[in-house]
Amino acid sequence: LVLVVDFGAQYAQLIARRVREARVYSEIVPHTATVEEILERKPAAIILSGGPSSVYAEGAPNVGAELFESGVPTFGMCYGFQAMARALGGTVDHTDTREYGRTGLSVADTASTLFTGTSEAQTVWMSHGDSVVAAPAGFTVTASTTGTPVAAFEDDARRLYGVQHHPEVMHSEFGQRVLENFLYQGAGITPSWTMANVVEEQIAAVRAQVGTRRAICGLSGGVDSAVAAALVQRAIGDQLTCVFVDHGLLRKGEAEQVERDFVASTGVTLKVVDARERFLKALAGVSDPEAKRKIIGAEFIRVFEQAEREIMADAAAEGEPVEFLVQGTLYPDVVESGGGTGTANIKSHHNVGGLPEDLRFKLVEPLRKLFKDEVRKVGEELGLPHEIVWRQPFPGPGLGIRIVGEVTEDRLELLREADAIAREELTAAGLDRDIWQCPVVLLADVRSVGVQGDGRTYGHPIVLRPVSSEDAMTADWTRLPYEVLARISTRITNEVREVNRVVLDVTSKPPATIEWE
Ligand code: XMP
Repeated sequence: LVLVVDFGAQYAQLIARRVREARVYSEIVPHTATVEEILERKPAAIILSGGPSSVYAEGAPNVGAELFESGVPTFGMCYGFQAMARALGGTVDHTDTREYGRTGLSVADTASTLFTGTSEAQTVWMSHGDSVVAAPAGFTVTASTTGTPVAAFEDDARRLYGVQHHPEVMHSEFGQRVLENFLYQGAGITPSWTMANVVEEQIAAVRAQVGTRRAICGLSGGVDSAVAAALVQRAIGDQLTCVFVDHGLLRKGEAEQVERDFVASTGVTLKVVDARERFLKALAGVSDPEAKRKIIGAEFIRVFEQAEREIMADAAAEGEPVEFLVQGTLYPDVVESGGGTGTANIKSHHNVGGLPEDLRFKLVEPLRKLFKDEVRKVGEELGLPHEIVWRQPFPGPGLGIRIVGEVTEDRLELLREADAIAREELTAAGLDRDIWQCPVVLLADVRSVGVQGDGRTYGHPIVLRPVSSEDAMTADWTRLPYEVLARISTRITNEVREVNRVVLDVTSKPPATIEWE
């Protein structure tokens, strides 16, 4: 276990992911954790992350010097580097040099523990105002930049290391190598964290937790709930029942993928509730986005709870009450809910379709240690269909919020066709992994004039919204090749009735959101 101490910027999650990419398991702890709490977890190594503060700012997070006397190999990055320097008697100054973004790093010793296998001149990503001007006693300075004489230091005897830059970001040329050098050489860790191990470990954990009792799981059609369900199925077989609410707002072929392909590849017991009419009825006459979302959320809960009661009644009749609810909560949800370190009351904020925290059940959350990319690997490990494992994010309210205007079956039908064409062409062009997601939106309340065949048409526009993103918090519009856009446009206008125009959304987020509603 490697612990990443989070000094409050967004870097800690990225560092934890990079450590895992080096096949070493890592977790994040807040900087408020005491040295004692950190050491209690018996980490093989500790990484101190970057942070927004200056070490001299009032209330700046600190690390107790005892940490560095514990003998646990420690690597400080950016703020962590400065905090380490300061705690051990070095000097950190508010110099005039500020370095932001790509910076040239001169490495003094490419045979040092950190810089082995990298080059003397390399590009790194910096973001700092303060600088270490004198390294603490015992350290060798191993790199510098034009503005920062002490840009890295190492002490092999105490196994303490630090760099001013951010090795975890992509723009640092040898970042991953530097991190691996610390983990393998500096800390002497043997990489062994693999998804196959994770699957085995989680299956054992679920068996231990659930025993011979029963569990239910709501499937949304998305990656997380599918992988969680498949894992729990491996662990407890028929003691698990999955519920899939078909609200009619999924894209073309998605309901079938859950009902047919997911069941075939996992063998889960699935209860499908066909609630399509019920949702359409509830949505009739409604075009306000927030109202639609509320209606869909509320209906979903009602339908799901009804299914739950039926399953529980059946199980109780057999004398086997359902005690567990399986959820696809991921590690970032856990960290963001403040549950990084053994916090007693961890709130899980990732719920299927907005399902409320339901205290009647004990939660089974086999993915709560994993990042999204790891969940996909687990899904592959479990043999789930490619279409489910690599599915792009799709909102819980589904196509309901991609029809600008009232939702009707007819309009859903149009949008499903248009969306299927866009997806098909993006896949054929090999672009699936380049885009984060590509909402296809029907402007049902807008009409424009067109000419098709011999006649004038008065049809609806379809909007393509391809975006690139890391986490959906911010996004940029994806520059898709013109030929691909042209093919999608031609096919949609030819093949989808009542659509005579295709437009491209070229707005980033912010100011726009990814979805239109
Ligand atoms: P926005 O439109 O807010 O979307 O930029 C950010 C990301 O969240 C997805 N999204 C949702 N996901 N329930 C969900 O599960 C929702 O109500 C919802 N609304 C938006 C959206 O697809 C994008 O990935």
